[in-house]
Amino acid sequence: MERTIKKVWIGKIADFPVSLGKAVRVEDRDIAVFHLSNGKIRAIANKCPHRGGVLSEGMVANEFVFCPMHDWKINVSDGKVQAPDEGCVQTFPTHIEDHQVYVEMPI
Ligand code: FES
Repeated sequence: MERTIKKVWIGKIADFPVSLGKAVRVEDRDIAVFHLSNGKIRAIANKCPHRGGVLSEGMVANEFVFCPMHDWKINVSDGKVQAPDEGCVQTFPTHIEDHQVYVEMPI
């Protein structure tokens, strides 16, 4: 079956403070959006695979977020939980066009 993607506008780049996460609701999904110190925007599911911590409230360092509940370290680019813990979160491609931020959502 073919996957369909929808590109959804989620705000201006200035709406996303650098090195912080922001919770965004897109198409009935809770997304954590991160504006990294290197200027990139990353979007992942806003739920830790451990016990559901809200990842948008975690501390951000480079390409990683630390879950606010038990400090799991998660790569926000590929969604992988870092060792010694295991798991991954869903990632969503993002685009910046003319200072506007879009996220691709499977529908
Ligand atoms: S809920 Fe995220 S580390 Fe436990």
